[in-house]
Amino acid sequence: MDDNERTERFDHLFAEPVRETLGESTYGEWRSISAPDAAPLGVGFPYPESFPNDDLVDAADAVFDEEGDTALQYGGSDYGDQLVEAIAERARERGIDCDDDQVLLTNGGTNAVDAICRTFLDPGDTLFVEAPTFMGVLKLFGNFGVEVEGFPVDEDGLDVDAVARELEARREDGRELPTVFYTIPTFQNPTGTTLSLDRRERLLDLAAEYDFVVLEDDAYGDLRYEGDDVPTLAELDEDGRVVHVGTFSKTIAPGVRTGWVIAHPEIHAQVRRMNAGGTNTFTRGVLGRYCTDGAFEENLAELREAYAERLDHTLRCLDEHMPPEVEWTEPEGGFFVWVEFPEGADTDELLADAAEEGVVYLPGSMFFPDDSGENGLRLSFSFASLDEIDSGIEALARVASSATAEH
Ligand SMILES: Cc1ncc(COP(=O)(O)O)c(C=O)c1O
Repeated sequence: MDDNERTERFDHLFAEPVRETLGESTYGEWRSISAPDAAPLGVGFPYPESFPNDDLVDAADAVFDEEGDTALQYGGSDYGDQLVEAIAERARERGIDCDDDQVLLTNGGTNAVDAICRTFLDPGDTLFVEAPTFMGVLKLFGNFGVEVEGFPVDEDGLDVDAVARELEARREDGRELPTVFYTIPTFQNPTGTTLSLDRRERLLDLAAEYDFVVLEDDAYGDLRYEGDDVPTLAELDEDGRVVHVGTFSKTIAPGVRTGWVIAHPEIHAQVRRMNAGGTNTFTRGVLGRYCTDGAFEENLAELREAYAERLDHTLRCLDEHMPPEVEWTEPEGGFFVWVEFPEGADTDELLADAAEEGVVYLPGSMFFPDDSGENGLRLSFSFASLDEIDSGIEALARVASSATAEH
């Protein structure tokens, strides 16, 4: 609904966080960008042919055949239980020290972050994030009435020294210390960067010293296309203060809306309490079957190959077409490349021209808690075809050239 159509009739009944964010959408204004003829390099959706339709139909058939009505009950499906076991087993194989009952299923990664926020955040609390960070959760944090402070990101991920300086200054001045640090350490949204091992260790040391929880959003951790894995924060955590979030939105399909939290048992118990309603047991059963009959790993290997080609293609097109003043990240996985125009350019203002020229991206300011980052933008290579990536980056280069000529 358009904000202009609001009659304000119910405003006095709404809770304070709702009244304070009226008219905002969870994901921000990008949903209103409509340019059907432009290359869709804005949305971080998986490409449609990546969805394992036939395998999911086979899995659903098996669930109906073998479990009948149990699969549609509130619980009790063996396949549903196997999903939890499969997630825990994969986590252990990666080196996360956890039992099956430390895995809590959720309705996707965003739902998991929401439940964790409800568990830890009071209005007025301070939350630290990378800046830029995933715009969906920035909007979500707004629902909690918290102060959000962002820290810069470079090619090795979050600038942990900057975090250390701010923590020390806050302690000296008697200012609020963070309750939670939300981070996407691997193939970060929107920059695609990965936090180096020594910075990961340092961040965990700071978490212990200053007593905050680290919320590790690992939405892209399974999507590495080159280079060596870096241990997740959960693997490195010896103190039980990392709360790890995963999702199948990028590795199976967003429509299955299934994610998980892996946390210390005492944290797990409270997140579970805060996340009322549980998950869709039928989907859970289908995914349980899908993840244990070999289809998941097989499809994941194919996804990695397909996304590797798209990333490669994106970087080649950028190299070929962009004017020399423009810079970009070179990720080893995930869905995104972060592009920076020279200082002074405003990618929000340039978006309409870009759409006309033939490309849609997401403007940088959407990813910063203080709406800065005007000269940055996020390109997603996950959804568009290779041809669209080509034409979209050529169009973006034309926009960049005229924008840099103006500055
Ligand atoms: C870092 C990050 N976390 C979470 C999500 C959303 O996950 P889900 O679709 O499972 O809610 C996304 C999707 O774009 C993401 O980029």
